[in-house]
Amino acid sequence: MVETTLIILKPDAVQRQLMGRIIARFEDKGLQVVGAKLMRITEDLAGKHYAEHEGKPFYAGLVKFMTSNPVLVLAIRGDEAIEVCRRLLGKTNGIEADPGTIRGDFGLSKGYNLVHGSDSAKSAKRELELFFTKDEIHTYEQTV
Ligand code: CMP
Repeated sequence: MVETTLIILKPDAVQRQLMGRIIARFEDKGLQVVGAKLMRITEDLAGKHYAEHEGKPFYAGLVKFMTSNPVLVLAIRGDEAIEVCRRLLGKTNGIEADPGTIRGDFGLSKGYNLVHGSDSAKSAKRELELFFTKDEIHTYEQTV
């Protein structure tokens, strides 16, 4: 089933100038970038996005990190895009993430882990609505 998911290239990915290489992972796989926005996340938006983590020991640091510098927010579409993107991202902790995944290839950290991807269809819908208006998500033909 064709799905659209939310991917965030976090401040560490932007600062380390990894945006192009990370986007290439999705495009090489055959997924489409249907929305893209370089933006600064406000504390309010970070709180909404990470509401499920409120109260956890890493929450304050996570919000501070995500609001510290710009992020690149992407809407990515394709067959089973939610699961496929999560597999491309790799495990949360860069130390445990397999080589060949984004986190496995570019980092060693759990907190500064370069990318976020929606973890379910419900999260994808909620998160896409937080970051994009309907007009900012596009449809276009793909050649395969
Ligand atoms: P993300 O996919 O954005 O979803 C929640 C984020 O919390 C996760 O990636 C990590 O960046 C962060 N996170 C999860 N667990 C920890 C942890 N134990 N310590 C620090 N950060 C964490």
